[in-house]
Amino acid sequence: MRLSDKIRNHSARVAVIGQGYVGLPLAIEFAKVGFPVTGIDLDEEKVAALNKGESYIPDVESRTVRHLIEDGRYRATNDMSVLAESEAIIICVPTPLRKSKDPDISFVMASSNEAKKHLHPGVLVILESTTYPGTTKEVLLPMFEESGLKVGRDFFLAFSPERIDPGNVQFKVKDIPKVVGGITSECSWMAALLYGQIVSRVHEVSSPTVAELAKLYENTFRSVNIALANEFALMCRHLDTSVWEVIDAAATKPFGFMPFSPGPGIGGHCIPIDPIYLSWKLRLTGYEARFIALADDINRSMPRYVTELLIDGLNNRGKCLKGANILVLGVAYKRGVGDVRESPAIDVITEMQRKGAKVCYADPFVPSLAHEGLDVQRVEVNAEVLRKCDAAIILTDHREFDYHTIIQQADLIIDARNATRGMTIPENKVIRL
Ligand SMILES: NC(=O)c1ccc[n+]([C@@H]2O[C@H](COP(=O)([O-])OP(=O)(O)OC[C@H]3O[C@@H](n4cnc5c(N)ncnc54)[C@H](O)[C@@H]3O)[C@@H](O)[C@H]2O)c1
Repeated sequence: MRLSDKIRNHSARVAVIGQGYVGLPLAIEFAKVGFPVTGIDLDEEKVAALNKGESYIPDVESRTVRHLIEDGRYRATNDMSVLAESEAIIICVPTPLRKSKDPDISFVMASSNEAKKHLHPGVLVILESTTYPGTTKEVLLPMFEESGLKVGRDFFLAFSPERIDPGNVQFKVKDIPKVVGGITSECSWMAALLYGQIVSRVHEVSSPTVAELAKLYENTFRSVNIALANEFALMCRHLDTSVWEVIDAAATKPFGFMPFSPGPGIGGHCIPIDPIYLSWKLRLTGYEARFIALADDINRSMPRYVTELLIDGLNNRGKCLKGANILVLGVAYKRGVGDVRESPAIDVITEMQRKGAKVCYADPFVPSLAHEGLDVQRVEVNAEVLRKCDAAIILTDHREFDYHTIIQQADLIIDARNATRGMTIPENKVIRL
């Protein structure tokens, strides 16, 4: 049976390499509609947990994983040899930055090498990891064609960016349109056919490079607009005006304006990193991506700015940061998730500790920060903890925090997220961005 027929009747064997925030929800979505799916991950603990039906991704329920395993539609493994019998291979591995801020595509290379070893006629390979423009065509294609197979005829190769927003209950994998760009039109068509089985809309573009760039444009758009909101916060402080009131007022315009919020900085695996992939690639062509550099600069300055607000607040009370007890409320990079990758809280905590503060944190989703190299105690928020601290600093506006108690009990609150908006607050108690 041809691959297209197997895709249409959901019998094509799908392998998803990388079972993290992106790969696991995707694998589960294919399994849910009936495809036999193997989730591949090098992390043995993740594989063992998944095969026991335990999900570590809040967007994927453990009982769904259990049900799919029992039905024989999903299993996890670290054995790459399953790629030999897979008919669609989707790569969802990390694409971080090196310390030098150059793209690190070593995970993509390692998993693509495995796909290459097991490449066989008729297979469809799709890269989903966010990466710099040209990766699919300039790096993956030559690697796969070394096998002697010809793209578009013997195998299919495409790029399709993942646009999932972890923790977003309104838009999950199946609700988000897929952009697909194949090396040839046959590749695009085959990849679009596959995604069409799990999402309601697939948007085909003329090349993988367009698809790679579309993803980078989306995340650069966010980075730049967040930076603008952050700079507005800095400007409003100079003008002794509330940035939040300004944004609320501007947001009443029903067209031509989209509100973004200032905050303590940007985090997660995407917004701080993806635009740098693009500027790196452009630098190779002699072009300096100015918006990206400026946005990155402003966003990365915010943790220090938040620390300065804290120092000012303590100073007004005749205290200094050295030796002060500071409670950090929320360390995840955004509300409702436990992901601390690139979280601005790491920078704020590091800066406060460097200046001699005694820091503890509370976050319902983050059990420890030890793996981030931080020595900071986790506490439960209660009246006593709040009363004992010299200041509480809200870095992530988790819904689980009781902001009324926080306001009642803490002496000083730095609210970097406007989590206390609309609440009655004694004068000089809360400093907002
Ligand atoms: N997290 C997000 O919100 C998000 C959204 C859209 C796109 N993306 C992009 O998707 C990609 C994956 O991100 P993520 O957040 O899912 O990462 P993640 O770290 O949560 O998951 C990646 C998984 O890949 C595994 N892995 C690494 N190398 C491997 C290899 N060679 N073979 C098999 N498994 C391997 C890791 O063990 C890990 O479990 C990145 O390019 C990211 O930029 C992420």
